[in-house]
This record gives sequence, C-alpha cells and structure tokens, in this order.
Amino acid sequence: MEQINFSQHERDVIYQVIHARRDMRHFADGEVSDEVLSRILEAAHAAPSVGYMQPWRFVRIKKDELREALIALVEEEKDKTANQMDERKAEFMRLKIEGIRDCAELIAVVLAPDDGTIFGRRTMPEEMALCSVSCAIENMWLAARAENLGMGWVSFFDPNDVATLLHCPEGSKPIALLCLGPVKAFYDKPMLETEGWRSREDMGAILGENHYPISHIKS
Ligand SMILES: Cc1cc2nc3c(=O)[nH]c(=O)nc-3n(C[C@H](O)[C@H](O)[C@H](O)COP(=O)(O)O)c2cc1C
Repeated sequence: MEQINFSQHERDVIYQVIHARRDMRHFADGEVSDEVLSRILEAAHAAPSVGYMQPWRFVRIKKDELREALIALVEEEKDKTANQMDERKAEFMRLKIEGIRDCAELIAVVLAPDDGTIFGRRTMPEEMALCSVSCAIENMWLAARAENLGMGWVSFFDPNDVATLLHCPEGSKPIALLCLGPVKAFYDKPMLETEGWRSREDMGAILGENHYPISHIKS
C-alpha cells in the first residue's frame, strides 16, 4: 500500500474534527443519505479491535413504534437514575439526555456474543471487547462530525430490555443508542459543561509521570 504522509493542513483538519465533535441531543429536520450513512458505518467497521474480533453489531431502527418503545425505556431509566441522586436530582432532571425522537437516524450498537477470543483479552475479556466497540463508536462520532452531522450516545436503558426489543442473541449486549442526523448548530462545549454539571479536568490532573497523577490519588 502506498505510504500516506499527511500534510500540515490534513493534520490540522483531523484535530479540528476531534475538538469540534460533540455529543448532540438537539437535531434538525433532514435526512442522512444512504451514501453518507454507509461511509459512517464503514468508519465504524475500520476501528481497531482486540484480537481483531470486531465485536460490534449495528441495528438501524426504521420502525416508528420501535423508536417509541426505546424512548419509553430511556425515560424509565432516566427516572430511576434521578431517584438514585440526592441533591442534584432536580438539576439532573432538567438536563436533556437524548434526542431520539428528533434525530434522522437511530442506530443501536450491540456488543456481539463472546466468540472466545483470548488474544489480548485473557485478563479482561469483557472490558477489552467493550473497548473495541467503543473505538468503533468514536470512529462514527468523528466521521459524522466530518460529514457535518451530529451524533449522540444514549446509554440510559436496561440492556436486557433493548436486547429483547431488537431480538439480540443470548450473550450479546446493546451498549448504545446512537442518535444521528443534521443539527442546527453544534454546541461550542460539552452540553454538560454549559449546563454547569461538570467541567473538563486540567491536563495536570489526568497526566502522571512514572506514577498515577497525584491529584487523583485519594488519601
Ligand atoms: C459511554 C458513553 C455514554 C454516554 N451516554 C450518554 C447519554 O445517555 N446521554 C447523554 O446525553 N450523553 C451521553 N454521553 C455523552 C457524554 O455526556 C458526553 O460525551 C460528555 O458530556 C462530553 O461531551 P462531548 O461529547 O460533547 O465532548 C455518553 C458518552 C459516552 C462516552
């Protein structure tokens, strides 16, 4: 294969895409063409995976009643989550945590049943498979942003309920409902930051030299 040497401009663009990517919960009218959707799914399928196991499966939700059933599960889980919160419960309930009804495309991502791969995952089998699926989702997120489409990861659901709705096989686990589609505008910052829920950690707090970052070791 021909070696690619990226130019400074191309490097700038990829960092721009990385920093401009946002988790989106507000969507606009419009569609995602089959061509664009297939580029985004190809980006997912090009992701790294432990032992090359490719444990990702995608389900495109086309039926409105299925979308509604998924919304009901997410709302139920949002309530349960709120009930486990103490002083931030009201603040949490005001947050928008999904755009399932308004997004052009809804795609469920399912961790496939374990195929027994040992390569690279003897000590952390479930985590490494999950990490691989996350890599695929991040590829989709970046590809979507490069296509000027928003994507939002929704994880508020009981995976067993979603598995039942989507006829997932034994041993598989839905891990994401991805809302994808045109947006009016991308958020400048993570919405949770704008809403005062949390802010980004300083680099000094997350980077250690020769040992775990000191500020995060609980005394
Ligand atoms: C594993 C995972 C699950 C997430 N689940 C949800 C979710 O259910 N609802 C939601 O609004 N955002 C969800 N998010 C998005 C995060 O809230 C978001 O990534 C974070 O606030 C930072 O914002 P940014 O993605 O715009 O940088 C999820 C993100 C990840 C990586």
